[in-house]
Amino acid sequence: MKLLLTGGAGYIGSHTCIELLNLDIDVVVIDNLSNSSYHSLERVQSITDKNITFIEGDVRDKELLRSIFRQGDIDGVIHFAGLKAVGESNEIPLQYYDNNLNSTITLLQIMEEYDCRNFIFSSSATVYGNPEKLPITEDFPLSVTNPYGRTKLMNEDILRDFYKVKNNWNIVLLRYFNPVGAHPSGLIGEDPNGIPNNLLPYITQVAVGKLGKLNIFGDDYDTPDGTGIRDYIHVVDLAKGHAAALQKLKIGSGLNIFNLGTGRGYSVLEMVDTFSKVNNLKIDYQIVSRREGDIASCYADPSKANKELNWKAIYGLEDICRDAWNWQSNNPNGYKKTR
Ligand code: NAD
Ligand code: UFG
Repeated sequence: MKLLLTGGAGYIGSHTCIELLNLDIDVVVIDNLSNSSYHSLERVQSITDKNITFIEGDVRDKELLRSIFRQGDIDGVIHFAGLKAVGESNEIPLQYYDNNLNSTITLLQIMEEYDCRNFIFSSSATVYGNPEKLPITEDFPLSVTNPYGRTKLMNEDILRDFYKVKNNWNIVLLRYFNPVGAHPSGLIGEDPNGIPNNLLPYITQVAVGKLGKLNIFGDDYDTPDGTGIRDYIHVVDLAKGHAAALQKLKIGSGLNIFNLGTGRGYSVLEMVDTFSKVNNLKIDYQIVSRREGDIASCYADPSKANKELNWKAIYGLEDICRDAWNWQSNNPNGYKKTR
């Protein structure tokens, strides 16, 4: 089997490369390196002792995509490529819509030309908006509050509309909860540009001395300790979720949606505490006001993926904190930014 991974040099894509290569799947990556480095793929190759075919370029480039499909028997696509920062999406919405929507549309058009009908899409728990109850199942109502989230929901809608008329396709929408942690080797991990937006990379950068103290966005939520609760999923578990989703591609056509989460939520303070204990480090923090757009609690009901994909997250919060620190402490500046 040969798969094309768009955005495969990024955080989740690079971890997924490892799981696929370990299953002897041939991996072709297209990435414009706008938010990643080729070093991630070099390291993936050294971890697995296998080769990746890498094409540097933009998924919206039709001719480039044609040249990839023309060359090889691509059996399916996992579409990770996209811009992903919620705050930034409010600043530059057109770039988000252009990148995140046109990449999907272009891919689907070129896949059609080459009769490749297997498509896995990186969606997000953000499409559930502020859920009325918990845990969240896949049939919950969908709503979004920012351009990034809207691109995820619009992509889902595009794929649902497309499937209505192309029901010989096989489409899987994977709704990730909060991906965190790093490969246990410490060789690949999350390498955000600038100051991290997300909690765990912020904590690890405080721990390594790059940032002063953590700002905790609100302690007045309706949660046991007042801080926000999220479903943190180890990126290796998430990567294995993609490998598990390939089963759906093998059993005929369909459009399937799965939550990829652990089913358990932790608060910001629980995250800080666990990180400190596991790594024997003190994390300075202060409570500041809520971040606009944040919700109190969000965690998955992952039982559909457990049953239908035979997949379950196995790593716990301690593993997450250990592996995130292992990556950050061994790579204080992430990947070198040049190729
Ligand atoms: P990432 O930024 O590390 O990876 C995305 C990759 O896509 C990057 O390597 C970037 O260079 C590449 N890219 C972006 N636009 C491109 C284009 N037009 N052509 C070619 N390459 C392009 O992000 P990630 O955390 O690995 O996320 C992967 C996917 O999962 C994204 O679609 C993201 O929205 C989604 N997702 C991420 C999270 C999260 O918290 N990390 C949560 C839910 C969903
Ligand atoms: N938080 C802080 N301080 C920080 C960063 C975060 O207190 O410096 C808190 C937030 O308020 C929230 C929790 O930590 O309660 C998690 O915040 P993240 O920014 O790590 O994650 P979010 O749940 O806000 O969003 C993430 C991704 C989105 C994705 C969403 C659901 O960033 O892209 O998960 O998958 F849509």
